[in-house]
Amino acid sequence: MPGGNISAVVLAAGEGKRFRSRLPKVLHEVAGRPLLGHVLAALSSLDLEATVVVASRRVEEVAAAMQARGFDGLTYAVQDPPRGTADAVRVGLAGVPAGTERVLVVSGDCPLLQSSTLLSLLELPQRNALLTAVVDDPSGYGRVLRDERGTVARIVEDGDARGAEREVREINAGVYLLEVDPLAAALERVGDANVQGELYLTDAIGELAAMGVDIAAVRADPEEVAGVNDRVQLAAAGAILRRRTCTRWMERGVTIVDPATTHIDPTVTLEPDVTVLPFTFLEGATTVGSGAVIGPQVRLVDTTVGAAASVTFAVAVSSDIGPEASVGPFASLRAGTVLARGARLGTFVESKATTLGEGSKANHLAYLGDATVGRGVNIGAGTITCNWDGRSKHPTVIEDRVYVGSDTMLVAPVHLGEGAATGAGSVVVRDVPPGSLAVGVPARMLPGRGNRMDPQAHPAGGGAMGDTEKEGPGDGDVSRGGDAQTAE
Ligand code: UD1
Ligand code: CA
Repeated sequence: MPGGNISAVVLAAGEGKRFRSRLPKVLHEVAGRPLLGHVLAALSSLDLEATVVVASRRVEEVAAAMQARGFDGLTYAVQDPPRGTADAVRVGLAGVPAGTERVLVVSGDCPLLQSSTLLSLLELPQRNALLTAVVDDPSGYGRVLRDERGTVARIVEDGDARGAEREVREINAGVYLLEVDPLAAALERVGDANVQGELYLTDAIGELAAMGVDIAAVRADPEEVAGVNDRVQLAAAGAILRRRTCTRWMERGVTIVDPATTHIDPTVTLEPDVTVLPFTFLEGATTVGSGAVIGPQVRLVDTTVGAAASVTFAVAVSSDIGPEASVGPFASLRAGTVLARGARLGTFVESKATTLGEGSKANHLAYLGDATVGRGVNIGAGTITCNWDGRSKHPTVIEDRVYVGSDTMLVAPVHLGEGAATGAGSVVVRDVPPGSLAVGVPARMLPGRGNRMDPQAHPAGGGAMGDTEKEGPGDGDVSRGGDAQTAE
């Protein structure tokens, strides 16, 4: 790394008034990460001595959010109250390691900045530099004013710019590489006699220039320097970030039919020859294997998809879809669903904490919760694992080559031995030995003993006993149906 000992100072303590939000601005999410996370990701590939994040009094919230995204090894400095960007840098300088020669100052609200652009600053022959861009509409940004020789003389903020200054289209990107000692001296001289009554870092640039420090101006792509000050700009930045991610994957051999409606988080991994169809959301730690076809209208969160699998019109969270497996249309795979090679979860099937062995199928209309299903099993339409008794969850085990007839209620805990079968409409309350056929409905009526979970659910003598679609409190699991188990 040229230029010796460099640390980053990331300004993230602003109140973000224009967001009108209770959440700190830099924690607002865009394209799969908080704003600040994008900036830290761009910094992470640079060879920096330290990264100091200047945060407000809500530093713990900010630090926890970054830690949760895997951004660690950071130093946090607290600026309270936020009195302007010059004050923020002063606070940040107190946090850089002794011996730091220069600081790379970036704003936490510039998620479009790329490592390569930051690197270009570090590789300059000059010791001091700032990033600028020439834009069509400079409103909202500080204007870079140059002297007659063309060197940077000062920056005037949008609100303070007058007359011809307003027409200057070269704007300050808010990214600076500066020598620590002159910077500290310049910061001392900054006052708050301006429209916002704040201590502007941009005034320190003017002070440095007046001190005779030569500040190089590097022009960047205007798209890259856009700051995010409100939610309209947040959405605009999101569109650019998503397009960039799609472009990167297409360059690496992924077919993306409609990048405009494809949302791929920066944390996702795709193999070559994946096809992503429109309106698809790939989030978190999702990975997709070669030859898989995902979409249209799929949302995968922290989910692994094996090679040559297909997933269409479906949602999967924290699940593992094996190679050649097939999901959807209209399937919901909740956390802990594991489909082995060639398994299939079809239309209107919901699963949770359930493993489906190789080649097993639940083609239509089923709920599989806390179930371990072996290989070559056929789960008929309308099958439900009644895994919830109002107090706890119970497992269902279905061994290899079982045939579960349509509309079977499997009242858990229950075990279906290898090669067993159930008749259509059966309510299975006892284990089925290997090779046996379970048929019939053991249910009988027990008056007055309906849904005892809810005291208001007792119309005269009735109640909801045996209502297998009644959801357990707060968790969406399917009820085992009151006394169905003890009714035998
Ligand atoms: C700033 C620049 C402007 C530049 C623009 C580029 C100043 C005075 N102005 O304006 O020249 O064109 O960025 O996007 O620097 N922050 C703190 N503490 C504070 C105030 C702000 O940490 O007391 C942080 C904010 O969280 C933000 C960054 O500094 O991440 C920039 O502050 P912001 O208020 O967004 O400045 P702009 O008005 O965009
Ligand atoms: Ca800003």
